Amino acid sequence: MVVKPRGDWRAGKLRCFGFTVHIREAAPRQDQDTKMKAIVFLGGGRITSALAAGLRLAKYRRRIVVYDRHPEKLRALRRESRIEIARDLSSAVGQAEMLIVAVRPGSVKEMIHEVARCGASPPKLCVSLAAGIPFRNLRTWLPAAVHWVRAMPSPVCRIDRGLTPVTFERTVTVSERAQVRQLFEQVGLVLEIPERQMDTITATHSPSHGYHALATLARAAESAGLDKRTALIAAAHALADGITYWRDSELDLDHLLHEAATPGGIAAATMAAMDEGGYARAVTRGLKAGIARAQRNAKL
Ligand SMILES: NC(=O)c1ccc[n+]([C@@H]2O[C@H](COP(=O)([O-])OP(=O)(O)OC[C@H]3O[C@@H](n4cnc5c(N)ncnc54)[C@H](OP(=O)(O)O)[C@@H]3O)[C@@H](O)[C@H]2O)c1
Repeated sequence: MVVKPRGDWRAGKLRCFGFTVHIREAAPRQDQDTKMKAIVFLGGGRITSALAAGLRLAKYRRRIVVYDRHPEKLRALRRESRIEIARDLSSAVGQAEMLIVAVRPGSVKEMIHEVARCGASPPKLCVSLAAGIPFRNLRTWLPAAVHWVRAMPSPVCRIDRGLTPVTFERTVTVSERAQVRQLFEQVGLVLEIPERQMDTITATHSPSHGYHALATLARAAESAGLDKRTALIAAAHALADGITYWRDSELDLDHLLHEAATPGGIAAATMAAMDEGGYARAVTRGLKAGIARAQRNAKL
């Protein structure tokens, strides 16, 4: 079941290590751009499913058309999020105001070549969700005069709590930028960053970090004597509620670390042992591996 979070947490500011990130008020929930024919997704997999569900939850009423080579996935998406199924690639491309490439990185080149050959002209505005594939590859693979955007939505957009880093080619116009921002703002925060930061943020903002930390902490607590359910509840509180408190209170992270850990106490001893055990080193290594994986996609 999809649950809509309480309140509108999206406008305001986030503070972290002395930096303040100002978050603009999200666009009105109804898309303001009346010119948009349809948002067309090429690829009806995991991220398309999460985005379509999040858009419907946000009462997005514009047409969402999806093309995929698996009819059963399309039918499931139609049941789940009332998407329209594209008859074929040419019809999908032909009705797109904004074309969103949502196939796995290894399939992007083939998909784009199919678009170039399908007989319909692609729209000016194309968005690639593919991790690690740079603008220079996208431009080479689709020589049409397309304005490319790269976006990396988090699948938590399914419940309206997404975070979508976006980066624009220089040719993308002001109104096209607004159109893209408005779309992703329906399902959470949008952060505009330079293309050179995309691989790093991709490795950083994945909710898999939260799930991984939750699973690891809960498993350790279970080994130390808690039953499975209690271990999960305790670990989820430690991670999710602690971070929500940081975000809502706008307190400095150092202050909260100090507040939660009495000097010489249990939390302090636990954190010190984790640090000595290489916690920071393990996280740094993990990020480097993720970034390197994204960089290899540029060579596909
Ligand atoms: N999953 C995430 O959380 C997430 C978040 C942000 C960005 N992304 C990016 O989004 C992209 C899609 O990821 P995903 O996890 O949604 O992948 P996915 O679940 O594998 O979905 C991709 C779908 O596109 C289909 N497809 C591929 N090539 C096609 C073609 N030429 N014609 C028709 N259909 C085709 C695939 O079919 P086959 O299985 O037969 O290939 C599959 O059904 C990736 O590039 C990823 O980097 C993913």
